[in-house]
Amino acid sequence: MKAVICGTGSAVPTKVLDNDDLSQIVDTSDEWIRERTGIVRRHIAKEETCVSLAVEAAQKALKQSGVSAEEIDLVIVSTISSNVVLPGVACEVQKKIGAVNAVCYDLSAACTGFVLAYQNAQAYLQTGIYRSALIIGSECLSHLVNWRDRGTCILFGDGAGAAVLRSEEGTGFLPAAHSDGSRGEALRCRSYLDGAKEWQMSHPKEYQMQMDGQAVFKFAVRQVPGVIREVLDKNGLRLEEIDWIILHQANRRIVEAVSRHLQQPLEKFPMNMQEYGNTSSASIPILLDEMNRDQKLQKGQKIILAGFGAGLTWGASVLEW
Ligand code: ACO
Repeated sequence: MKAVICGTGSAVPTKVLDNDDLSQIVDTSDEWIRERTGIVRRHIAKEETCVSLAVEAAQKALKQSGVSAEEIDLVIVSTISSNVVLPGVACEVQKKIGAVNAVCYDLSAACTGFVLAYQNAQAYLQTGIYRSALIIGSECLSHLVNWRDRGTCILFGDGAGAAVLRSEEGTGFLPAAHSDGSRGEALRCRSYLDGAKEWQMSHPKEYQMQMDGQAVFKFAVRQVPGVIREVLDKNGLRLEEIDWIILHQANRRIVEAVSRHLQQPLEKFPMNMQEYGNTSSASIPILLDEMNRDQKLQKGQKIILAGFGAGLTWGASVLEW
């Protein structure tokens, strides 16, 4: 069996914060942010939550797919930034959309999360265990960001993207993914569930996202081309046969560097971080949905999805549209 995407959807908060707005909060400028990251604005949750954004994206994806909520066997939500710990976001989505027959769980793998959710669903579908799945990346990173740290707060935004998958006769693609916990300190954030209140009060930054930007940059530029080559080899494909390479939307310079390393034209690497910033596990499905709705994706095209981020984790999948 093979897994195919038959519907996509996305949702972002209404409030928009552009680079000029940010320069009122921290010592930065529109020029610096554009040049170093490619980001121009991002959407920030006020009324919205990880659950509400996930539900909106899921409903759009289901509508487009023609699959009913009752037909969905599996719901996976990738998130690291929900305001609620229990119940999980996936079970909340199930309740709100009426996916009464699905098994639902959350997955925590930061910016690689959507690719791993895709690979989880693919494994179930290609082995015939389930026939349909709804996978979602939903993040409200604005709650984790240190709004006094100009090195990180300029990068992130909130949003959600979703895809409906179903199984079909045929041979599916094999995935590639890796983790390196020994380098996890490069991107870290403690949970308020740990430690004494006094310690939390005296170390507030520990409870907000902290990043060694240059380490993450180097890691991404080295590992992403490698995992893309690996997934191609595993499936007996050549780069020239791939129509689109959809990378996690962290930074324009990372995308440009990966394009150079792979010696593939930048036109193959769609980008939308200018509009949304880095939305972690939501960035790939938001971009996929935009491309789908703009009719840039044609039947039979081959697409690579590649994610990378905290853990450290990274992975790539091939799919045929
Ligand atoms: N505005 C103005 N100046 C700034 C800002 C800012 N927002 N942020 C940092 N600077 C300053 C620094 O203080 C430093 O000044 P100094 O030279 O006087 O000390 C100077 O700019 C250079 O700082 P660097 O950190 O070396 O800047 P760099 O070119 O590395 O860019 C950036 C920083 C954009 C964070 C880059 O390292 C990067 O993109 N890294 C990858 C980060 C990333 O993509 N993370 C997410 C991936 S994983 C995930 O998605 C969770």
